[in-house]
Amino acid sequence: MSIKEEIQTRIALIEEIINARLIDTDGSSEDRQNQIYEAMNYSVLAGGKRLRPMLVLETARLFGGKEEDTYDFLTAIELIHTYSLVHDDLPAMDNDEYRRGRKTTHVVYGEDLAILAGDGLLNYAYETGLNGVLQSGNPLQAARALKILADKAGVFGMVGGQTVDIISENKVLDEETLNYINECKTGALIEAAMMMGAALSGASEEELGLVESIGSRIGLAFQIKDDILDVTGTTEVLGKPVLSDEKNHKSTYVTLLGIEGAQQKVQELTESALNDLLTLRGCTEDSFIWKLLNSLVSREK
Ligand code: IPE
Ligand code: IPE
Ligand code: MG
Ligand code: MG
Ligand code: MG
Repeated sequence: MSIKEEIQTRIALIEEIINARLIDTDGSSEDRQNQIYEAMNYSVLAGGKRLRPMLVLETARLFGGKEEDTYDFLTAIELIHTYSLVHDDLPAMDNDEYRRGRKTTHVVYGEDLAILAGDGLLNYAYETGLNGVLQSGNPLQAARALKILADKAGVFGMVGGQTVDIISENKVLDEETLNYINECKTGALIEAAMMMGAALSGASEEELGLVESIGSRIGLAFQIKDDILDVTGTTEVLGKPVLSDEKNHKSTYVTLLGIEGAQQKVQELTESALNDLLTLRGCTEDSFIWKLLNSLVSREK
């Protein structure tokens, strides 16, 4: 199987796991809350690469954990990631009308319900994660994983990165500030995904530190690649608008180093992270997680 086919197989498994945990709406019921469930599910069911849940699962595997122990947690992180996208696309933020190949949530349901759908997804992520803690054979270990998610999604992580991204529009940024924004807004959740998988499998503090540092470089590379694709990609392939950063007067690695310089940076960061990945328990260049992260350097979406 090629790495692309392997990734597709994993996506199918992850979607089954996530879908089984979504709030069911049968549309015909009298439930007053049908509209919000529908708006929440709309963005989750639209697809996407499912990278963060995949990293929870694969890192747990690497550390020898039981796959089933990750299911509530991989769902939780994808729900938080999805809420971050719903809010990122709002008119007050990036004002984008396509996401995951569909009209954005605010275009279909209105800005008010899109804000609430994001809030609903964020809360439901913790409801799902707490179910995982309560049903775990090792609740302390599971709570540690959920705490990682809470920290990385917050003001010193994703929300903080999004904040500096927004208040830095119309400014020329230096590399240090760009790194701060990218490591927080995108790196933090990639770090969280890998750390949660490791924590759920009983990794030591020292191992968690190394996983965090690998995730940080992968996350930074992922956002730089996203900024490159914003210039070189197409809406058809990406499923979201191109030239969004230019429209919003954002400084990115592309404006700092050009396309080639930025791609070079993606390559360097990934190589350095992949070398460290090989020092983790049983990881080789043949491991799925190694090939998955390596494939992100040349991703087209
Ligand atoms: C988009 O994330 C936002 C960034 C952090 C760059 P993804 O590129 O992982 O989006 P989906 O989940 O595949 O839609
Ligand atoms: C946003 O970065 C990252 C998030 C935390 C949502 P972008 O604004 O570049 O993400 P896209 O390009 O809209 O997916
Ligand atoms: Mg944005
Ligand atoms: Mg955006
Ligand atoms: Mg982008």
